[in-house]
Amino acid sequence: MTDQKATNVTWHEHKVTREDRQKLNGHRGAVLWFTGLSGCGKSTIANAVDQLLHEQGVHTFVLDGDNIRMGLNKNLGFSPEDRTENIRRIGEVAKLFADAATIVSTAFISPYKADRDMVRELLPAGEFVEILVQASLETCESRDPKGLYKKARAGEIPNFTGISAPYEAPENPEIVLDSDNKGIEELAREVIAWLKANDILPA
Ligand code: ADX
Repeated sequence: MTDQKATNVTWHEHKVTREDRQKLNGHRGAVLWFTGLSGCGKSTIANAVDQLLHEQGVHTFVLDGDNIRMGLNKNLGFSPEDRTENIRRIGEVAKLFADAATIVSTAFISPYKADRDMVRELLPAGEFVEILVQASLETCESRDPKGLYKKARAGEIPNFTGISAPYEAPENPEIVLDSDNKGIEELAREVIAWLKANDILPA
C-alpha cells in the first residue's frame, strides 16, 4: 500500500457520474489487464482487441508497457519496487479510463500477483478482467522480437523476467489465451466473445 502523503486534500464528487458516462457511451468501462512474459503477445493482442472494439463503435484506449515507460513512468526501472510502482500508477490511470466508461487494454508483464490484485481492488466488481497471455518461455525466447532474451542470457540485462526475475502467473484469471498455439485474430475474438458473454459489451 502506498501511503497518502498530501494533507488538506478533499475528494470531490463529479457532477457527471460514471452511470451518465456509461449511458452516453452505450457500454460500461472496463480494464482488460493483459499479463504475461515479454514476447508472449500482450501488446499485439491488446491492439487487435482495441481495433475490433473501435470498429464496433466502442470507446477504447491502450496503455502499453514500453510506451508508458518512456513517459509517465520514465523514472522507473525493473527492480521489484519499481515494477510495483509501475503497476500502481498504470492501475490508477486505467481506473480513470474505466470511470470514463472506456474499455482500456493494458499490456504490462506485471509479474507480481500482489500488484495485479492491488489493481483489481481499485475497480468495481466485474470491471477488472485479468487476461493471462499464456506462452512458454521457449516460445517467447524463440520469438525474441526485441532481441532481449539473447541479451539477458548473455548477462547483459539484469532482472529479466523469466530468466533472472520471477513471473507469477495468475491462478484465477478471467481469460486464458493460448498464445503458444493460436493466432492473434482468433485470440482477439475470444476476448470480444467473453466481453459479450459477461455483459461488458451488449451481446
Ligand atoms: S513490468 O514488469 O513492470 O510490468 P513492463 O511491462 O512495464 O514490465 O515492461 C516490460 C518491457 O520492458 C519488456 O517487454 C521489455 O521490452 C522491456 N524490458 C527491459 N528490461 C527488462 C527486464 N529486466 N525485465 C523485463 N522486461 C524488460
